[in-house]
Amino acid sequence: MKYRYGINALTAMLMLFLAFTSGCYYDKVVPPIVELSDEPASYATDIQPFFDAKCIGCHGAQKPNLEAPDSYNTIIDGEYVDLASPSSSSLYTVLDGFMGAESSASQKALVLKWIEEGALDN
Ligand code: HEC
Repeated sequence: MKYRYGINALTAMLMLFLAFTSGCYYDKVVPPIVELSDEPASYATDIQPFFDAKCIGCHGAQKPNLEAPDSYNTIIDGEYVDLASPSSSSLYTVLDGFMGAESSASQKALVLKWIEEGALDN
């Protein structure tokens, strides 16, 4: 009955394969749910500390300069935020690539929230 054994093994492998692939697919399509405070985002206490933790390793020497105290003016003068279309801001869109690889979904959402609230020096 070697033949029957072969079919069963194949079926088992197929089911494993389906379980794995559908599992991965599910992970990708469910967007992360992010809860942010209703308080306005603060440049000084939310955004700059985020740059300090995730960005200035490159963005001191590499432009744009995201180190305090120059970062705010650099961002505004360099037009890295687009108040008319916050989610199109390059400060936000770069987070989709390697620059945001170490950032959490909440950190990315906070950057967007701060831009939506007018990108204030608050
Ligand atoms: C590993 C180094 C590295 C890290 C870390 C990094 N960046 Fe960058 N960033 C670059 C380089 C190189 C460029 C210029 C080339 C490019 O745009 O890809 C750049 C460009 C940019 C630009 C300009 C994009 C444009 O369209 O002109 C912005 C804004 C930016 N980074 C923001 C950030 C933020 C915010 C972080 C932290 C979350 C960050 N980067 C982390 C290397 C880095």
